[in-house]
Parts: sequence; C-alpha cells; structure tokens
Amino acid sequence: MNDDMSDESKSCSLPSSTEPTATRSTVPMWIFVVTLLLLFLGFAFFDKKGGWFDVRVYAPYNSSEELEAAQPKSAAAVAMAAGKKNYETYCGSCHGNDGAGKIAQAPPLSGSEWVMTKGAERLAHIPLAGLGGPIKVEGKDWNMNMAAMGAGLSDTDLAAVLTYIRGSWGNKMGEVSPDDIKKVRAEVGKAPQPYTGEKLMTMPE
Ligand code: HEC
Repeated sequence: MNDDMSDESKSCSLPSSTEPTATRSTVPMWIFVVTLLLLFLGFAFFDKKGGWFDVRVYAPYNSSEELEAAQPKSAAAVAMAAGKKNYETYCGSCHGNDGAGKIAQAPPLSGSEWVMTKGAERLAHIPLAGLGGPIKVEGKDWNMNMAAMGAGLSDTDLAAVLTYIRGSWGNKMGEVSPDDIKKVRAEVGKAPQPYTGEKLMTMPE
C-alpha cells in the first residue's frame, strides 16, 4: 500500500529537467530581407500594372470641365444652350452677341420692353414677320427695318432663341414654347409683311 502511493506520486511529478522554458533568440536576418523584397516586388508590380494617372484609365474626360459638360442637363438648360447658338448665328451679327445692340444697326435686346413682355405673342411676331418703321427701345428712337430673320428657324429653334434672349444679359422673363411660335407662325401666314411698332402694340403681349 505504501509502495503504491509513492509510485503514483512519482509518476505525477515531472522531472525538473523537462519543464518548457521560454528563451529569447534573435530574429533571423533573412526574414527582413524577404519581407523587404516582397514589398519591393509588390510595389513594382502595382506601379507597372496599376492605372495611376494613365489616360486610358481616366478617358474620355481630361478635365472636370469636360466631365461637367457631359452631364445630363434639364430641358431649360438645353433650350438655353441651343438658343444661344442660334441667336449668335441668326441675330447676334446685328443685335450683338452681348444683346447690347449696335449703333445704326440694331437696337438692344437686353432690357428691351419688346423682349421683356409677359407672354411671347407680341415678341414672336418680330422674328417671324419682321419689323419696320419707328419704334422706341428703352426710351431711344429707332426707325429701321428688320426682315423676318427667324422665319427660317423651326418652332423649337426659334422658341429656344426667344427663351435665350428673355433669360440672358440680365433679362429675366419666362420661357417661350414651340407651341407659342406655331400659333404666331400660323397667324402671320406664308408671306408675312413686316409689322410696325404701332401695330404690334395693339396685340396682346
Ligand atoms: C440684319 C440685322 C438684324 C438681324 C440679323 C436681326 N435683327 Fe432684330 N432688329 C433689327 C433692326 C434694325 C431692328 C429695329 C427695327 C425698327 O427700327 O423698326 C430690330 C428689332 C428687333 C426687336 C425689337 C426691338 C428690340 O431691340 O427689342 C427684336 C425683339 C428683335 N429685333 C429680335 C431679333 C431676333 C430674335 C433676331 C434673330 C432671329 C433678330 N432680331 C435678327 C435688325 C436685325
């Protein structure tokens, strides 16, 4: 019995020589070398295959202005842009691209009471039929002739031109719709005679 007990206690206790111990040892140099090499190769690979500022990655835009220009626009913005283009082609040579008019050529459209009407009816008659004889524009007398300079434009294009002149250079009046143009075009007919200022004043704005 006594022997058994002593045997058991012997087998439970480990001999002190096999006890695990934590010791300090230096990290081998090759780990640093391999790590740096991998980092270097990784960067080199990224450098070669990554896009960075390659134009092929950022095409088709080269600048934020180009990107901005490619954004979808509201119908009003589209009309204004189309109106500006046609205005400068068909009206700007006389009235000025700045709408300020030109001495002895054409009166101003910026601030003009003929442009800043409540509706489009009276105004639309001017480019569709022409205008001749004495008129007053912003208190100044004019007595010239303008042919039907807008008659060749489509309803949509002329509406955009009038929307443009009513919304530019400080003018702040409502849009003109293609239907407004259609109505006045039907009224002036196929061979329109230029209106006088006096006659225009008899019709609704
Ligand atoms: C060849 C020159 C010429 C062109 C091009 C021309 N106009 Fe005029 N416009 C005139 C003249 C001149 C008058 C003044 C007529 C008068 O004295 O009765 C005038 C008058 C006007 C008026 C009324 C007066 C005012 O200044 O507000 C409007 C509005 C107008 N034009 C719009 C247009 C529009 C829109 C276009 C283009 C579709 C256009 N014009 C193209 C010469 C031109």
